[in-house]
Amino acid sequence: MDFQLTEDQSLLLSAVREFAEEVVRPGAASIDQTGEFPRDVFAQAGQLGLAGVSVPAEYGGAGMDTVSYSIVIEEISRVCANTGVILSVNNSLVCDPIEKFGTPEQKHRFLTPLARGEKLGCFALTEPDAGSDAANQKTRAVRDGDAYRISGQKVFITCGQKADLCLLFAMTQPEKGPRGISAFVVDANSPGFDRSRHQIKLGVNASGTVEIFLSDVSVPAENRLGEEGDGFKIAMATLDGGRIGIAAQAVGIATEAYEAALNYARGRRAFGRPIAEFQVIRFYLADMATDVEAARLLTRRAAAAKDRAKENGGRFSLEAAIAKLFAAEMAQRVTTRALQIHGGYGYTKEYPVERNFRDARITEIYEGTSEIHRLIIAREIFKDTRLTIG
Ligand code: CAA
Repeated sequence: MDFQLTEDQSLLLSAVREFAEEVVRPGAASIDQTGEFPRDVFAQAGQLGLAGVSVPAEYGGAGMDTVSYSIVIEEISRVCANTGVILSVNNSLVCDPIEKFGTPEQKHRFLTPLARGEKLGCFALTEPDAGSDAANQKTRAVRDGDAYRISGQKVFITCGQKADLCLLFAMTQPEKGPRGISAFVVDANSPGFDRSRHQIKLGVNASGTVEIFLSDVSVPAENRLGEEGDGFKIAMATLDGGRIGIAAQAVGIATEAYEAALNYARGRRAFGRPIAEFQVIRFYLADMATDVEAARLLTRRAAAAKDRAKENGGRFSLEAAIAKLFAAEMAQRVTTRALQIHGGYGYTKEYPVERNFRDARITEIYEGTSEIHRLIIAREIFKDTRLTIG
């Protein structure tokens, strides 16, 4: 088993790190405070291929593998969790399902501008009564000739504030339960598609989270992704990939906090010496380094499993769930310790760790809570008592 990055992946890492430091970092602290959506940074990322990392070049993407994608999200999230999640949503929750389930015509029409960062996508599954219980969809899509008329409400939609296209899930046949859900690519500027103001949150405050209200929105039937009734499986398969992005985001946030704590411990003196010389601080940092590294490896392993599944078929739900659960909980531990090592300074806005601490919190909630991930993992391990992940 080779844990080294390939030459292409190493080159990508250096290029993305440079972009993150030069273009993304300068505005990161400010948009956290103002909540301003970084649309210009998204567009610049798109010009570098970062809005569609794994989208084939013929559809405007960078045509790279999922390990590369995880590197991109980790590096960007390290400096700005907002830009990290925006890219993650566009890449894995919108581009990915259109590439996997779309017709060639849909790919040309929707995927190319999304992968180039010319258009921004959002993923609208969650509803007031359909969070963890995602199958409990109330939004209705009713066939009307060559179109569907869609009405309902979606909540907590990341990127919804500025999205041009929305991958939206709605019930076409409610009597069939999860098998009655269908997926649609909806033009977010359609009449009847209304968005709330962006919601102010504890962290990732500039990711354009809104509610979406749909009143009789007309969507051409040719915008349906997959067959009628395929929607829930499309959503679940898509989230398996999305969760790798959020695991990478958690690793990025934690890495930044860990490095800040390491530097602070070297410089801060107490009782006549740098606090880095106290064993308690050294042990904290050793635990943090171990935690971050373990989460990074699990994330890259899940990414490799996704690439194998693309080649050979099959699912990677277990690998993705393990990576997301571990990385999200790791990010809570590491950012909490990083803040503690900074003492009172860590609690102020003079140091970045308080932002890392707040941003880490959502990774345990969105794209499936830690509890839902335990449920997914438990279902898998009870199928087969030997846990053999290839
Ligand atoms: N891939 C393909 N198909 C899948 C699948 C997967 N990963 N998971 C389930 N399915 C299929 C099942 O095989 C089943 O198919 P059949 O009907 O043919 O048997 C069907 O889907 C129903 O599956 P379940 O019985 O497992 O469904 P469930 O109602 O028990 O739900 C759940 C399962 C895991 C709890 C799911 O509801 C879930 O993941 N909930 C969390 C929702 C979530 O993650 N939301 C995130 C919103 S997006 C977001 O957060 C973005 C953001 O802001 C950044």
